[in-house]
Amino acid sequence: MIVAFLNQKGGVGKTTLALHLAGQWAARGKRVTLIDADPQGSALDWSERRSHEGLPRAFGVVGLARDTLHREAPELARDADHVVIDGPPRVAGLMRSALLAADLVLIPVQPSPFDGWASAEMLSLLNEARIYRPELAARFILNRCGARTVIARETAETLAEHDPPVLAATIGQRVVFADAPQSGRLVSEIDGDSPAAREIATLTAEIDRLSLRKAAP
Ligand SMILES: Nc1ncnc2c1ncn2[C@@H]1O[C@H](COP(=O)(O)OP(=O)(O)OP(=O)(O)O)[C@@H](O)[C@H]1O
Ligand SMILES: [Mg+2]
Repeated sequence: MIVAFLNQKGGVGKTTLALHLAGQWAARGKRVTLIDADPQGSALDWSERRSHEGLPRAFGVVGLARDTLHREAPELARDADHVVIDGPPRVAGLMRSALLAADLVLIPVQPSPFDGWASAEMLSLLNEARIYRPELAARFILNRCGARTVIARETAETLAEHDPPVLAATIGQRVVFADAPQSGRLVSEIDGDSPAAREIATLTAEIDRLSLRKAAP
């Protein structure tokens, strides 16, 4: 399965969540390749910091920030159980290519009532991709949920019937999500029993259930 984290908004958690989903799958023995489709190369930087720290390779990270991504990703997918794409901010050509490559698009958003969750442009690119890929699935994922998670949950309920729907699993605003990647680590490597690590495990399980449903006739 190819999962792409996309949102034209910067700083919503595409890289953070892509690294942690890939890491969770890899920790369970899956063969995972992460495609860094962001010209900023944040996932590649993470991978480099990791090897500088002398940490074992968690999963392969490939830089593919070009709009032939949709032709190259299936090739990588043949040798992996899962491919995770860390998407670019604000690059229409690359975004389009990532949408054409993906089986599942995850759109990280911060649950702020004052904030449009995804730009109209992002959603129209998604609809455009569905003309060619009607089976393309998409979900919002609420990231950086604050202490006032009640608001987040209400927002999620309100949007559950919307297209794309919202994943039930949410990710909290937690310092460790910012700290761990700075040393090439994942939150589960800092503390496997932490709330952050449990949130990632729950998120991964929900994504696994989505792909199971997709595989059913
Ligand atoms: N759940 C979280 N808790 C705390 N900090 C977070 C969380 N998610 C992301 N961050 C922090 O927010 C910042 C932006 O996150 P990230 O780089 O993952 O976003 P992005 O969507 O990939 O951004 P860009 O569009 O620039 O690629 C980073 O400093 C990251 O550490
Ligand atoms: Mg990023």
